[in-house]
Formats: sequence, structure tokens, C-alpha cells
Amino acid sequence: METESPVNGAELYDKLNVLERDEYDAATCDRLAATIGEIRRLKRERRAVILVHNYQRPEIFEVADFIGDSLELSRKAQQVSDADIIVFCGVHFMAETAKALNPQRTVLLPDLRAGCSLADSVTAEALAERKDELLKLYPDLQVVSYVNCTAEVKALSDVCCTSANAVQVVEALDSEHVLFVPDQNLANYVQSQTAKQIISWDGNCYVHHQITAAEVEKVKHGVPGIKVLAHPECRADVLALADAVLSTSAMVAYAQKSAADKFLVVTECGLSDRLLMEIPNKHFYKACKLCHYMKMITLDGVLDSLRHLRYEIELTEETAAGARRALEKMLSIAV
Ligand code: 13P
Ligand code: SF4
Repeated sequence: METESPVNGAELYDKLNVLERDEYDAATCDRLAATIGEIRRLKRERRAVILVHNYQRPEIFEVADFIGDSLELSRKAQQVSDADIIVFCGVHFMAETAKALNPQRTVLLPDLRAGCSLADSVTAEALAERKDELLKLYPDLQVVSYVNCTAEVKALSDVCCTSANAVQVVEALDSEHVLFVPDQNLANYVQSQTAKQIISWDGNCYVHHQITAAEVEKVKHGVPGIKVLAHPECRADVLALADAVLSTSAMVAYAQKSAADKFLVVTECGLSDRLLMEIPNKHFYKACKLCHYMKMITLDGVLDSLRHLRYEIELTEETAAGARRALEKMLSIAV
């Protein structure tokens, strides 16, 4: 989604008021509006674009040139043509993806602590070892890496995928055996949608993995007619309760188009903020958790990032080229 919206404190207050959160009082909104104005000014001066993931804080949405899910952000990063700098408001592996697709541009992540438990669950060394073992058993084996992994892991993969296109990517491969890293829940979901043999890794997203079927069931049974939208990083028993299993941006599109007006959103809580702000005439219930990595990014951090050009993402030429190959293959397969 492309954005450009008000920076007046009162207008910002009205906009954020829909979230019903005490933290966005009038004084805070005045201060945030001033920071937003300064970020926008500096962004033009530096010839920068700001790419923002759906899980970011709502005030960060106000400085975004583009807000989206991992697939949309990868596409957007591939299409950047008239900027010197990309500021990535998301987590480290996403900024690395932008860098791999834009080796000639400066890519900044405002806070280096913005990592990911899922990306941490697979190293390039462990993947290389496992791949060698499995190739002896299945010579046609191909490695599909969910983009939530390091650039080194992407470079060892045949192709990447995101939550929006994982099934489509697996189906497009000319191989019956797929090592799918690192998310075991997404791997299980893909296995439920394909006849190919999926060998999963033992990783998970700590945010989605802690959401329980009992939490979802409680809301589902208490609100007749509610549609349950779940992210495929959730456990299988949670996905079994869903009306639709979708990437974050696909949830936004589903809620916009659906005739239903009540939804239970089962993913990181930031997405509910986007839904509440963009679709105020519908009702959104939450069975969500916060990702503390995503929330490391703040407006003040974005301002400092533009002021001091920090923190720059660097990849070796070899890693960038390997990751780019796997990402470009995904982008050539997936709609
Ligand atoms: P989406 O690609 O569906 O936005 O999910 C990404 C995610 O979990 C990021 O951490
Ligand atoms: Fe990683 Fe999960 Fe946070 Fe996404 S929500 S960045 S997968 S820990």
C-alpha cells in the first residue's frame, strides 16, 4: 500500500484514536507529528524511501512510502529506481533481502536488535550439512527457504518463498522432495496442500507458535458469524479453526472484500492496527501476540537512522548474489 497522510498532531490523534490506546494521547500525538514531519523532510533531502512491514507501530505507517507483507516488500525493493537509500522498518532479514536486491544502494535498518527467532533457528552450516545428508537419500531434493532466514541461508537455497506464495513455489519445482526451512508450521501447512514430500526444519516463530487453539476457539464460539483469519506460521490445530490461512496483506484484502463484518485476526498484533485504521466500518477481534523484534523500530530510531545513516546492512558480494538468485527465482514464479 502506498501512503502519504497528515502530520498535524490533532489529525494524527483522530486517526490513532480508533485504536483506543491510552498511549496515543494528544500530547504524544503532537510530539509524534513533529517527528513525522522531520522524517519526511529528511527523507526527501537524503533521496530515501521507507519500506514498512505490516507489523510495525502505527505511527511508523505515517512515514512509509510503502507498507506491505514480505512478498510485496521484496517486490517493492526490486523495483526501487530513483532513491539512494532504503530505510527498512521491519526486521534484519527483510533489510538483508532489500540489500541483496539492491547491492548498489545503501540499506538502513534503524535498530540492529530487530532480529527474528525464526531466522535464528537455521544457520548456513547446519543447512549445508542437512542438505548433503538428504541429497544422498533423495537426489532430486530442492531447498526452499522461507524468506525469514539470513542471506547466507537464502544463498544455499534453490528458491525462496513467503507466506503468500509458499504452496505456489513448491508446486512450481521440478522435484518431488523439498527441504523446507526454517518454519515447521508453514512446512506442515504446505504439506497439507501438496502431494510432494516436504521435509521440515525444526524452527518456529515464537510469536505465532504461542497462540493456542483454545484462545481462538473461545472467540470463535462467542461471536457468531465471525471469520477467522490465521497466518500460516501458526500451529496446525490453530489453522484447522481458520476460515482462511493468509499472509498479512492477504488478510487485509480478504477483510476489505468479504461480505462479513467481524473477523478474528490470528497473527502479530500490528496487523490489527492496520486493519482498524483502514477498515473502520468492520470489527476486528484479536488472538494476537506482539513481536518484540518488530517493535524495536521506533519513529525516533527512524529519524536517527536518516540523520546518521545507520545502521547500514552489508553483505559480501557472494552472499548477495546467492540470495538474489533464490529471491529472483521466487519473484519469477509467484504472482
Ligand atoms: P507476511 O509475509 O505474511 O507479512 O509475514 C511475515 C512475518 O511473519 C514477518 O515476520
Ligand atoms: Fe520473526 Fe515471528 Fe517476529 Fe516475524 S513475527 S519477525 S517471524 S519472530
